[in-house]
Amino acid sequence: MTKTNHSFLAACRREQTSYTPVWLMRQAGRYMEDYRKLRAQHDFLELCKRPDLATEITVTPVERLGVDAAILFADILLIVEPMGVGLEYPKGDGPVIHRPVRSGKDIDSLNDFDAAQELSFVYDAVRKIRKALDDKVPLIGFAGAPFTLASYLIEGGGSRNYVHTKKLFYGAPEAWKRLMERLVKVVAAYLNCQVAAGAQAVQLFDSWAGCLTPGDYEQFAMPYTKAVIAAITPGVPVINFSTGTAGTLKQIRAAGGDVIGLDWRVNLDEGWAAVGHDVAVQGNLDPVALFASPKEIKSRAADILRRAAGRPGHIFNLGHGVLPETPVQNVITLVEAVHELSAK
Ligand code: CP3
Repeated sequence: MTKTNHSFLAACRREQTSYTPVWLMRQAGRYMEDYRKLRAQHDFLELCKRPDLATEITVTPVERLGVDAAILFADILLIVEPMGVGLEYPKGDGPVIHRPVRSGKDIDSLNDFDAAQELSFVYDAVRKIRKALDDKVPLIGFAGAPFTLASYLIEGGGSRNYVHTKKLFYGAPEAWKRLMERLVKVVAAYLNCQVAAGAQAVQLFDSWAGCLTPGDYEQFAMPYTKAVIAAITPGVPVINFSTGTAGTLKQIRAAGGDVIGLDWRVNLDEGWAAVGHDVAVQGNLDPVALFASPKEIKSRAADILRRAAGRPGHIFNLGHGVLPETPVQNVITLVEAVHELSAK
């Protein structure tokens, strides 16, 4: 028997696997004591920029949880730092961009940079993580999708209504296009550098795409996600992740990706039917379900697996990231339950 577990990559290609592979978005993070200990000693950006620490943070949850894939420890906003907008992660709060872009003039004065040069610490981490994983499970690289990155750059942080973002594409569509085309270029280069360093699949996080009407998604987000996906090194599976997009799944699918992320606001069987059974899906447990009893967690995992109906091409995950207060033991319970309940 080989020690290599490639069930995740096989599921990305919709091949049969002996059980449903599972990994969790934000499987490395504040809900883990090991992470909190390191975080108490280092600034978040320092954790990302030190390949030794990023490797430790990536590998620990793989061993602890028994998941079928590792995800690079980094952040979707690392790529905006070299643009010169003043990125900071204040303790306990979400990320802040000190000089958000609000006009065509702001967009044109963003620094141009070479993703291969400026983000080399990420690729160093990828190489180190691959060595540490020793092929036990595959490594997923990632980046923010152009729309979600643009909304951070424009809003300056998280947002409830995305008023500045929408005002920009309503009022200055040419400037919007210039910003998005720039993001496509750097995101594609960044992901391909991760792949060259050893990432075996990549996920595009379009976390905030759900704030858009299907028509606005089609016009202001989709062409750019499509361009990034088309530029990824052939043969590397791409996961197209978003949340709040149950009403936009046809457009999300049209943007591309070998695997489409589904969140818990749609039943997995209905979501899979909407994107089509000729593509793999990833999801879709409500992250808050991990605060329920082990019995409830197992029953919800069973319901999702029942809806996947043993079809090849289902990767089990949450519909969004693990929340900071989640009990680690419940996460382990979930991973074990998925493996047991789906074993063929
Ligand atoms: O384990 C993993 O999934 C890998 C690491 C990872 C992080 N961020 C580490 C992180 C990944 C894949 C991300 C992606 C990311 N970052 C997204 C897309 C996924 C999503 O949740 O929608 C987004 C929107 C961001 C931007 C971001 N970074 C936010 C909103 C926050 C603060 C809120 C939060 O969830 O923690 C961060 C900070 C961040 N990124 C932390 C970690 C471990 C916490 C930082 C800290 O310790 O203070």
